[in-house]
Amino acid sequence: MGQKLHGMLPLELMVDHAMLDAEHDEIFCRIEAIKESALSAERMPEDEVLALADSFARHFASEEQLAREVGMEFSEHVHEHAQALRMLDKACDDLRAGGLDLRSFLRCLEYWFEHHINAFDKPLGRRLAQRAAGSRGARAGVPGLAARPAESRPAV
Ligand SMILES: [Fe+2]
Ligand SMILES: [Fe+2]
Repeated sequence: MGQKLHGMLPLELMVDHAMLDAEHDEIFCRIEAIKESALSAERMPEDEVLALADSFARHFASEEQLAREVGMEFSEHVHEHAQALRMLDKACDDLRAGGLDLRSFLRCLEYWFEHHINAFDKPLGRRLAQRAAGSRGARAGVPGLAARPAESRPAV
């Protein structure tokens, strides 16, 4: 995913990590585009919903990789991601079968995503910022900033 923001990510949902903010923004853009095509097109935007599910899957993998890199306890967060992917899979199946209320689903999905960013992704963003600050401190020779391994520092 690119790192350019397209402007669909509300400022209050930024996690202050360029890649994650760009991925969140892309997902909000996809949701918005599906809403528009659902309003204007006669057919259901099945391909777009599948692409949205793919974006979520790739984004969740990015977060899980970053959490591994900083040694963050992430099991509850991974569980949330897995539940969301199951929900998206079911939505794709229901859409194919003609049994999905797409607008209601997108409203629920956006609500879930905002809550998830606030409750789960922001702590990850803070942890990544701490790690980055520690690395900068170590390179600049600031005592104590990166002297201890990440695991021994207090969790956020
Ligand atoms: Fe996220
Ligand atoms: Fe997440």
